[in-house]
Amino acid sequence: MKRIGILTAGGDTPALNATIHGAVTRANQLKVEIIGLIKGFNCLFNPRVPHVHLNPLYQDIPELDPTKGGTLIGSSRDFVDPDKKDDLDLVASRLKRLGIEGLICIGGDGTLNGLQPLAERLPVVLAPKTIDNDLGLNYPSEPNEFVRVNDTTAKGGFRYKRAPLNAVFDLNQLVNYATPGYATAVFVSAQGVERIRTTAESHRRIAIIEVMGRHSGYLALGTAYGRPDIILVPEHPLDLEHLVEKVKHLYDLQKNVVIVCGEGIVDEQGRDLGAEMKTTDPAGNVALTGASEALRTRLVQLIGDKYFQLYRRGDSAREAIFTRKVGHTQRGGRPILFDRFYAAQLGAQAVELLLDGHNNAVSILQYNATKGFHVEGFDANRFRDRWGLIHARKMHADLYDPRLMKPSKMGIDYLMPIFTDAIGEDDAEHMRRTLFAAGNLGQPYHSINTDVHKRIRYLQAEAA
Ligand code: F6P
Repeated sequence: MKRIGILTAGGDTPALNATIHGAVTRANQLKVEIIGLIKGFNCLFNPRVPHVHLNPLYQDIPELDPTKGGTLIGSSRDFVDPDKKDDLDLVASRLKRLGIEGLICIGGDGTLNGLQPLAERLPVVLAPKTIDNDLGLNYPSEPNEFVRVNDTTAKGGFRYKRAPLNAVFDLNQLVNYATPGYATAVFVSAQGVERIRTTAESHRRIAIIEVMGRHSGYLALGTAYGRPDIILVPEHPLDLEHLVEKVKHLYDLQKNVVIVCGEGIVDEQGRDLGAEMKTTDPAGNVALTGASEALRTRLVQLIGDKYFQLYRRGDSAREAIFTRKVGHTQRGGRPILFDRFYAAQLGAQAVELLLDGHNNAVSILQYNATKGFHVEGFDANRFRDRWGLIHARKMHADLYDPRLMKPSKMGIDYLMPIFTDAIGEDDAEHMRRTLFAAGNLGQPYHSINTDVHKRIRYLQAEAA
């Protein structure tokens, strides 16, 4: 294989450039060309196929900086529809015309689903990324636990749900322990929690901080490092009575409460709190944007104004309970050391998988106490359920203690290997040196897109 294509698909994460850099570095050593495909799958649906050569003469272009967040080749939520066979054939023929013999997609579970039909047309490998940490399996047999039920309202007429869990959960069995982007997103969110705490303390308020993660609670779990009082995760339906009791107990004691909620938390009936306005992104994912507000409304009703008036700590519950979303800051900016280091290894592994003749494979990050973190290859077919679908990984319920509303002992055991040394000295030094640099005041921001644009080539000229 002499030329490989690479693209970044779905929502960005801070470690995408690090993964690309890892892939390009390995390709340079192996004398393989890497072609970056602009804006994810969007590029392949475009007859002009905008692309950029990332390693002319087997040297990476200077714009490829592994410490920079985002992705220099752009991303989009365009996805591959397995039923559109003609489109898939077109994509394959365009790649062929570019001389691309294998494709690396950096993405999550949606991207891996999209790769399945493409893998019948050319060798493809996925290098994982997602701040949600939901690409992986709690144990290798997990896909067999999905059952399909008829549902006329669902896409394709079916809904997939879990049969009761069938295996003993053991951290050593996790497939893909953590995905690049997750550690940085936790780093940002945990800092956000710390910062909101002091204002909640000063003003005797109850803060509800919403973090991303879709239906997976890993991100919320990780914010435990910022020491919120309560963490709510999607995997455990909300127990409002217990929550209100705990909030009141804490407020009585310390005059402030900090609650973190994952955007995908569900009520007692299993309904998304955050999806009160139903919208979906182009890949069909429900946009979850209202969990913290919905939770606030419930707490305002259940705790009531009188409670705060009696304490002389505010005129109303509305005034005392406030929400903040960490939002897209948790997905942006410089990746911390853990993400950079392992993202690069996963990118390099993806190149090796292709060169070793694998198709429809995934480079994964494994952990056990003896070997520590290490990368491996995994057959993507093993991620699929009986009907061929790949599901987002939910955080295993055992990682969370619903009584304490915090990570369980096992949850702590899960987090520690990732985060204990996750921040490099250079991460702190970088901030010290760059944030208040005098040049920031006078000089306009120089976007990477401006430079990469000059390098973009096309498969065919623009129609006159
Ligand atoms: O999958 C990553 C993620 O950041 C989710 O946590 C979040 O729900 C979603 O993407 C937000 O997507 P967008 O930026 O397209 O609104």
